[in-house]
Amino acid sequence: MVPKAELHVHLEGTARPGLVRRIAARNGVALPEGLFADEDTFAWRDFLDFLNTYDLAASVIRTAEDYRDVVYEYLSDCAAEGAIYVELIASPDHARAVGLTEEEHRAGLFQGIDDARADHGIEGRILVSVVRNLGVEAAERTAAEAAAMPHPYVVGFNIAGDEAGFPPPPFIRAFEIARDAGLGCTAHAGEWGGPESIRQALALPGVTRISHGVRAVEDPALVAELAERGTVLEVCPTSNVVLGVFPDYGSHPFRVLRDAGVAVTLGSDDPPYFGATIGGEYAVAAEHFGLDEGDLRGVTETALVASFADVALKRRLLERLGSAGPAR
Ligand code: ADE
Ligand code: ZN
Repeated sequence: MVPKAELHVHLEGTARPGLVRRIAARNGVALPEGLFADEDTFAWRDFLDFLNTYDLAASVIRTAEDYRDVVYEYLSDCAAEGAIYVELIASPDHARAVGLTEEEHRAGLFQGIDDARADHGIEGRILVSVVRNLGVEAAERTAAEAAAMPHPYVVGFNIAGDEAGFPPPPFIRAFEIARDAGLGCTAHAGEWGGPESIRQALALPGVTRISHGVRAVEDPALVAELAERGTVLEVCPTSNVVLGVFPDYGSHPFRVLRDAGVAVTLGSDDPPYFGATIGGEYAVAAEHFGLDEGDLRGVTETALVASFADVALKRRLLERLGSAGPAR
């Protein structure tokens, strides 16, 4: 099995309906109206409606133990598919909304990472995410809180939410705070915004990666610039197809970007919402984008090198990739 690494997955978005139901029952919380389409399917119509459903699911995740379980279940699933490293995009704003302190939130996240490593040998790290539609002040507050709480498991910073309605420029200060605190920076752009949104995200302090970035394909000069700068794209093909950014895998630009020399990695974004897994994304890359086993190992190598993990961990993971043996 090809060792895999994932740089783009939203933590609250990893919890499957069954886990959300178990957590709600344990907390004595009624399941929010409109959360599920049926027993095993979240209900959403389009991207903005998906963001609402995402918030509903996150609203039942209430305790440190809940967060631990969400992290543990997801990392365990990834390990079963051959993943050796996952960066989890975690949102202090969602935890705060249910009354958790950031200390409690983090205690759960870190326990999940430790337990998954102990049981399955997988490594996880946290990227603090702000939600752009909550506004600039909230983003700066969350960035400042992260900056004031350095921890070896908290390695990066991201901005998610409604890209079309909330473009990057006003968030410059939030990224400055994160970068100055030593956090690696990436930003959602080029999913619901075009090339201009990606250019604006590239201008944010500290940004070395773009979350999605796939609509760069609309502007060949930007594609060339991404390749030249070595900016790494966290590409989530199934998310893009299911959400309708591209109509099908055949029209997805993964291959075009890669062939133009852009560094591309694979992510599942919000797995149960889109029917994605990290193993599935590697399979999509093999089946639809023509990547062979060596190419897929290269994708993992790109992800490990671009990860915000510390140098020692990166070295260990790269060694593990090199010595992982032939495909199974
Ligand atoms: N939050 C969760 N998933 C997201 C996505 N694909 N884009 C922006 N914000 C998100
Ligand atoms: Zn995302």
